[in-house]
Amino acid sequence: MDKIIVNGGNRLGGEISVHGAKNSSLPILAATLLAEGECVIHNCPDLTDVRAACDILRYLGCKVKKEGSTLVVDSSIISKWDIPEGLMHEMRSSIVFLGPILSRMHKARLYTPGGCEIGLRPIDLHLSSLRMLGAHIRESHGELICRIDKGFRGSNITLSFPSVGATENIILACAVSEGVTNIFNAAREPEIADLADFLNKCGARIKTGTDGTVTVEGVSSLHGCEHRIIPDRITAATYMSAVATAGGEVLIKDIVPMHMKPVISVFEESGCRINMGRDSVKIRKTERLKPVRNVRTMPYPGFPTDAQAPVMAMTALADGTSVIVENIFESRFKHVPQLIRLGSAIKIEGRVALIDGVERLYGAKVCAPDLRGGSALVVAALGAEGRSEISGTNHIDRGYEKIEESLRKIGADIRRGV
Ligand code: UD1
Repeated sequence: MDKIIVNGGNRLGGEISVHGAKNSSLPILAATLLAEGECVIHNCPDLTDVRAACDILRYLGCKVKKEGSTLVVDSSIISKWDIPEGLMHEMRSSIVFLGPILSRMHKARLYTPGGCEIGLRPIDLHLSSLRMLGAHIRESHGELICRIDKGFRGSNITLSFPSVGATENIILACAVSEGVTNIFNAAREPEIADLADFLNKCGARIKTGTDGTVTVEGVSSLHGCEHRIIPDRITAATYMSAVATAGGEVLIKDIVPMHMKPVISVFEESGCRINMGRDSVKIRKTERLKPVRNVRTMPYPGFPTDAQAPVMAMTALADGTSVIVENIFESRFKHVPQLIRLGSAIKIEGRVALIDGVERLYGAKVCAPDLRGGSALVVAALGAEGRSEISGTNHIDRGYEKIEESLRKIGADIRRGV
């Protein structure tokens, strides 16, 4: 089994680029099904989740070509309307294919995603919203058997929680539809705006408001387009956590500064020096970190749950007690026992983590419990004394493109081994 081997203690320096956003690539790849033509998507990261989305597109009948970080998807001919259970479980967010398959084929057969490493992944908001738009959905032993009579019809939908996936599924369902759909309390993550941008380039009429309202004026068909995926703000936050933990000064390039706002204040509170550029951020850490008092994960523009684990790894070395509250997922502290193996002092009380900063972390053998938990272990290992071996790299590869090569370029002693 693959491992990531880190000899901690090197200060980091130089420049690092951020790849395209995983969480934009997946819904946009699903959206190519609606285009009935060729879509050219630039800046697609080479991640196992993205490959799984391409496998689903190929299974459905699309032609998918990869040219470097550009994916060319031709969805002129679609021959299937189901996703087999194996493919469905390769990627947790494959439920986002339900809206576009139903829209294009007027029938769909998928499997429910089930639980995963970070807790239950309910899809009730996806299903109730699609039903409001006219879908008939029957659930039987984990299978979703769906049809729609003459295509989706616009409606007003108020989400009880601004779910990212449900907002995407609704947009994907009603981009091609009759009438207007208003989504209230929609998710406001930058990846939603990126999906809307992509679909608008294909001929859709979607407006995303900053107040959490999305308006979709249905059109009768879409066409192919060319699009560039936005940078991955979580990967950027992970690199920032790495510099804050290991020390040094690094220029993180190819970011959208606005998207980083929810995390920047936390790095500033910890005593890092931050300089924002037009499409970059420079982070410098020279002294021992200060604790952070109030990190609460929230829907965007709040602090992202996906950055919680790498930021927790950084607070492990702070001079005092940090407090992190996880409000989005029920079971997203699975990295804590692994961080404790590296020498950190963390107590969990329900949704609250209390991190008593220690002076040193020590290398150890640890196992990535999930994607972001895995990146937290890499961050902690970079700041630990001695050698760490991180197994469970399959989780990390779902969201970070060749993480060891990127971090080696800025001076980390990190490699892949067996
Ligand atoms: C997306 C991101 C993920 C991120 C999360 C929250 C992708 C591919 N994944 O996941 O990285 O951590 O947003 O920012 O974009 N919920 C329900 N019912 C539903 C749907 C969601 O109760 O029908 C709950 C979930 O259990 C969770 C919360 O809502 O507690 C947030 O989920 P959601 O925003 O839907 O996250 P995802 O789209 O799955």
